Amino acid sequence: PYMREVSGVKVLEDRLREKLKLESVIVVPGDSDESEWVKEEMGKACVTYLQSISGPGQTLAVTGGTTMASVASRMTPSAGMEDWLFVPARGGLGERVEHQANTICVEMAKKAMGNYRLLYVPDPISEESYQNIIEEPSVKDVLGIIRSSDIVIHGLGDALTMANRRKTPDDQLAVIKERQAVGEAFGYYFSQSGEVVHKVRTVGLQLEDLEGDREVIAVAGGSSKADAISSYFQPGKSSVLITDEGAAKELMRDT
Ligand code: G3H
Repeated sequence: PYMREVSGVKVLEDRLREKLKLESVIVVPGDSDESEWVKEEMGKACVTYLQSISGPGQTLAVTGGTTMASVASRMTPSAGMEDWLFVPARGGLGERVEHQANTICVEMAKKAMGNYRLLYVPDPISEESYQNIIEEPSVKDVLGIIRSSDIVIHGLGDALTMANRRKTPDDQLAVIKERQAVGEAFGYYFSQSGEVVHKVRTVGLQLEDLEGDREVIAVAGGSSKADAISSYFQPGKSSVLITDEGAAKELMRDT
């Protein structure tokens, strides 16, 4: 029965890779909506993947959230990762401190025996402050590292779940609902067809920075995130998806 389970997951990976037109898809067994340990398994799968692509002197940018926190909790030192530089992809986005990109970045770097740089800026931030702060030399320096990072790993969330968790102001919440956002990543909210319908102004990696020659890995699972995953991948912004069986089955449901 174990082998059958494994090969079932393999078939899901192939079908999902084709459907979302990705370079690589990894599906771990289970549904993280139902069992917390499945998220840990996605974290472990992400660490294994990172170790498989690791080369010397890489820079890795990481976002926040509970899934990224489980990647950090599973991080282990690995040959070739000691001189990696870890940076937060964006600011806190209103998350609790343990789920903010800065916190996760430090934990990952320490466990991988690498180095880190952090972004000390308020977040979200007003338009006026934003324009000034990105010119601050220390911020500018880290932003440059983030924008030129070799690898980006990030979470993906259900739009309303994320908006509520981040205590989004009522006027912005109304926009998110009215424009029928279903997915969220990096503070960008996406409609089912993959259009950006709202964006939180924060310092750090912007969606357009994902283009170009770098490895972008999304880690997101749970059947409740299926719509969010498909909305985000409409225009195809990341090349690798690490997910679970719950989300993968839901994504393949109508095909
Ligand atoms: O942007 C999406 C969130 O970071 C995902 O958070 O991993 O806690 O579901 P989560």
